[in-house]
Amino acid sequence: MELRLKERFGRKFDEEIRFFKGWIDGPKSVGAILPTSSVTARRMASVINPESGLPVLELGPGTGIITKAILKRGIAPENLASIEYSTDFYQHLKRTMPGVHFINGDAFDLDRTLGDWKDKKFDAVISAIPMLSFPMERRIALLEDLLDRMPPGRPVVQITYGPVSPIDARPDRFQIKHLDFIVRNIPPAQLWIYSRG
Ligand SMILES: C[S@@+](CC[C@H](N)C(=O)[O-])C[C@H]1O[C@@H](n2cnc3c(N)ncnc32)[C@H](O)[C@@H]1O
Repeated sequence: MELRLKERFGRKFDEEIRFFKGWIDGPKSVGAILPTSSVTARRMASVINPESGLPVLELGPGTGIITKAILKRGIAPENLASIEYSTDFYQHLKRTMPGVHFINGDAFDLDRTLGDWKDKKFDAVISAIPMLSFPMERRIALLEDLLDRMPPGRPVVQITYGPVSPIDARPDRFQIKHLDFIVRNIPPAQLWIYSRG
C-alpha cells in the first residue's frame, strides 16, 4: 500500500517536474506553471458526448492530465486526436498513452497538422493551449476553423486564467458561454464554451 502511494505521488511529482521544465524552456507556449487539476480536467471532458460516435480533438495536452480525463469519459484512444507543439511532451505522451492519435505540431495550422484527420468532424474540442499568448485575430481564426470541423451546437472548451473570455465576442459568428470557475486548480481556472448554431 505504502509502495503504491509512493509510486502514485512519485509519478505525479514527475509530471509536475516535466511540466515545470517545459515552462522554463518556453513559458509563453506552456502558459500555466503547473498541470491542470484532475477536477478541472474532468469538468472539461464532461461536455463530450461519447454516444455521438464522433472523434474528439484535444489541443495542448502537455503531460496528459486532460487526455486521461477524455479517455475516462468513454472515448476510445483511437477516437482521440491530440495536438502538442512541444516534442518533449509529445514523446512522453506517445509512451504513456499508446493508441491515442498524438500529433506533434501547431494547433493554429489545422489542415497541415491534422493530416489524414483533416476532413473529420469532431464531437468536441478540448483546448488547453495558452490562448492569451497569441494575438486576438489568430485566436478567432483558430476558433472558427475548429467550429467548421464540428456539427452545429457542439462545444469548443477552453481553459484560461484571466477574468474574461480569451476570445472576443462575435455574436453574429459564434456564441460564448461561461462553463465554470474552478478554485481547485493552481491558479484557479475559468472554463469557456464556444459554439455555433
Ligand atoms: C497550459 S499547458 C496545458 C497542458 C495540459 N493540457 C494541462 O492542462 O496541464 C499548454 C500546452 O499547450 C501546448 N501548446 C502551446 N502552443 C501550442 C500550439 N500552437 N499547438 C499545440 N500545442 C501548443 C504547450 O506545449 C503546453 O503543453
